[in-house]
Amino acid sequence: MIIAVANTKGGTGKTTTAVQLALYRQSLGHEVWLVDGDEQQSALTAVSIRSENGVKPALACSAYSDARTLKSQIETQINKWEDIIIDVGGRDTGALRAALLVCDILLVPVQPRSYDVWALSKLEDIIRDARDIGADFDAYCFLSCADSQGADNQEAAEVMKQCEEMKFLDRAIGRRKAFATAGGAGLSVFEMRPKDPKACSELKALAEAIYNL
Ligand SMILES: Nc1ncnc2c1ncn2[C@@H]1O[C@H](COP(=O)(O)OP(=O)(O)OP(=O)(O)O)[C@@H](O)[C@H]1O
Ligand SMILES: [Mg+2]
Repeated sequence: MIIAVANTKGGTGKTTTAVQLALYRQSLGHEVWLVDGDEQQSALTAVSIRSENGVKPALACSAYSDARTLKSQIETQINKWEDIIIDVGGRDTGALRAALLVCDILLVPVQPRSYDVWALSKLEDIIRDARDIGADFDAYCFLSCADSQGADNQEAAEVMKQCEEMKFLDRAIGRRKAFATAGGAGLSVFEMRPKDPKACSELKALAEAIYNL
């Protein structure tokens, strides 16, 4: 299955989600290929740090910010992997549009903040464009960097539920230091010590929901 993690809004947790999902799926024994479609190459950097630190198993990761190369490489390698997870940058790029043409599922992390929620209409336009030219994928948004308290999560969720081009997936990833620290070391939250059980259970719940869709 090919999952594209995308949002035209920057800094919403796309790379964090993509890296964590990839490492979690690999830990379950799946053949996983992480594709970094962002010219910043944060996902590739995280995976490189993992290798430099000698953490095993390594994770297969390639970076293609050029749209044509990204699409053709995924089409070429589609049968070699059980899971392909694409991380695209936080802008309307060719790589984002190419990812929409090849993915089975679009996963959209959304922070529970007004600017982030307002920005979803731009992404919905892009999803609509892609579907108009024949792209066939299911789209799901979920709360990323969710608050531990307050009304913002619920308010954002209500707006996300109104989106026409994507469904709301009720599996939040909280704002937790473990996600940021693990990502910076190229580790999954399951490998981080000390372990944050809440971060682990959120990631597991999100992954199970996505892969059972
Ligand atoms: N659940 C989380 N809890 C705490 N910090 C987080 C979480 N998710 C992401 N972060 C931190 O927020 C910042 C942005 O996250 P990330 O790089 O994953 O976002 P992005 O959507 O990929 O950004 P960009 O649009 O620049 O590609 C990073 O410093 C990351 O460590
Ligand atoms: Mg990123």
